[in-house]
Amino acid sequence: MEYNGTRQFFRNMRNLLRNFRESMVRHGRPTSDRARTQTVVHNFFLHIHSARVHEHSLKWSTTMGLGIMTTLLFLILVVTGILLMFYYKPSVLTAYNSIKDIQYVVPTGRIMRNIHRWSAHGMVVLLIMHMARTFYTAAYKQPREFNWVIGMALLAITLALSFTGYLLPWDQLAFWAVTIGSGIAASPRDLTEALGITQYFDPGGLIKEVLLGAHFVGEEALIRFYTLHVMVLPIALVSVLGVHFWRIRKDGGLVRPASAYPDISPEGAGPEEAPTKTFGLMAVVRERTPATDREIENLVPSWPRVFRLEAILTMLVLLVIVGISLQVDAPLAEQANPAVPENPAKAPWYFLALQELVSYSAFGGGIVIPGIIMVGLLLIPYLEREEEDVGIWFSGARGRRIAAVSAVYAAVVCVAVLAFTVRCGWLRDWLPELTQKYGRITQIVMMFFNPGMVFVAACAVWSIGLLRSTSSTRMASIGLFTCSLVLFIMLTYFAAVHRGPNWGFYWSQAAWPVVEH
Ligand code: HEM
Repeated sequence: MEYNGTRQFFRNMRNLLRNFRESMVRHGRPTSDRARTQTVVHNFFLHIHSARVHEHSLKWSTTMGLGIMTTLLFLILVVTGILLMFYYKPSVLTAYNSIKDIQYVVPTGRIMRNIHRWSAHGMVVLLIMHMARTFYTAAYKQPREFNWVIGMALLAITLALSFTGYLLPWDQLAFWAVTIGSGIAASPRDLTEALGITQYFDPGGLIKEVLLGAHFVGEEALIRFYTLHVMVLPIALVSVLGVHFWRIRKDGGLVRPASAYPDISPEGAGPEEAPTKTFGLMAVVRERTPATDREIENLVPSWPRVFRLEAILTMLVLLVIVGISLQVDAPLAEQANPAVPENPAKAPWYFLALQELVSYSAFGGGIVIPGIIMVGLLLIPYLEREEEDVGIWFSGARGRRIAAVSAVYAAVVCVAVLAFTVRCGWLRDWLPELTQKYGRITQIVMMFFNPGMVFVAACAVWSIGLLRSTSSTRMASIGLFTCSLVLFIMLTYFAAVHRGPNWGFYWSQAAWPVVEH
């Protein structure tokens, strides 16, 4: 008995490593399709993928890897963010110096901060491209409508993450950009004041107070932004992202065109597609049964092709981000000084289009127009429900043509309106005389009548024209989406390059006057 026990003990010792491995990994080498499927299903990290994917989903042109690269950048942001948290001190007195320490004293601090900053910018760029990809391949259509809505939530959370992170270095740029941002949040007060009801109903003041914890950007705002940035918003993003990925599987994988579902019945198969193996039920039926050596709908095991592609994308993203971070340092201006306004105080680039519109009227440009755009984007899958040409870029040649013409149209409208405002000014500049004539009404009109409204009207007229001429909601929506995208890009460029002190127009930064503080 004792002898047996000792033998067993030594056998267990000999097999220790193998038993440990088998307790952890419950499948063999992924050499057969069955083992490949088990590899994915039994692995905690891999089983977010389906065990099999459609051949079409693996093509570069289907997704361009944009969603995966966005996810990778988010993961990089989490890792570098945690490292930065070891040194960052969220207080008005210490924040700026702790960032300086990270930049100049902490070993590898500079590269970590650079990677964090450039990944944040990269994530917004890739997110916009991913959104455009899902739109142009009509991936928002049934049954994926709700995943588009979830995507919109991800967009909002990502922008909120960026906005809250912008304040943390507590330098001049951060302080004044967030001061402008909180002014936009408070802009419903323009309307309540024009109506003379602010003392009874002040949503603008309430929003600002909830956001900043005070009437101004200070200690309370910094701690609020910090908590939102490092905890609330990342947890929200991870949770919503989980639903986004889960929905992709529940919606039947990535969108694909009808041509990606070949007819696999023997009658439908062409000579070159004829099955090589069939099972006839001898003497019972005469015909051949469907092919048995081809997967239904061309599904292939995710292992190893999906993971190989993901590994390549990971290396590519890391290479680019680390390369940029070695070359270019994240900006850090002087310490925030509430007494010395930054002029011009520019928001991060992805809010510049908004800031340009806000410069004409805060409520119209900062609340009404973004509200219209967000609601419009949310409704796309519910108002555009044509079933044809799903999964095809631009839904074919006609859509490509419409996208190109719409881009030119939007560019012309944008240049014309901006040139007009630069030359002739806008309502605010003509206001003195108008106010004398019409008083309070002028204030309300000025609030809403923003150049952004001209853009919204121009886009609406264009897409209604397309709807009438093509009788296709898909073509009308391609026109509308393209116009919005082009306007966003052009306004961002205009505000970044041609706006200077006091938000004046300059051909380049070299022409800026020296501003006296
Ligand atoms: C944090 C932001 C986001 C991340 C990390 C993300 C990630 C992903 C990933 C990995 C996929 C699989 C396909 C691919 O790789 O492209 C996907 C699919 C999808 N995403 Fe996102 N996404 C985000 C935001 C958005 C936004 C803003 C939208 C649109 C408003 C959106 C709409 C969709 C749709 C409709 C699909 C299904 C696409 C298809 O069936 O081809 N996502 N997303």
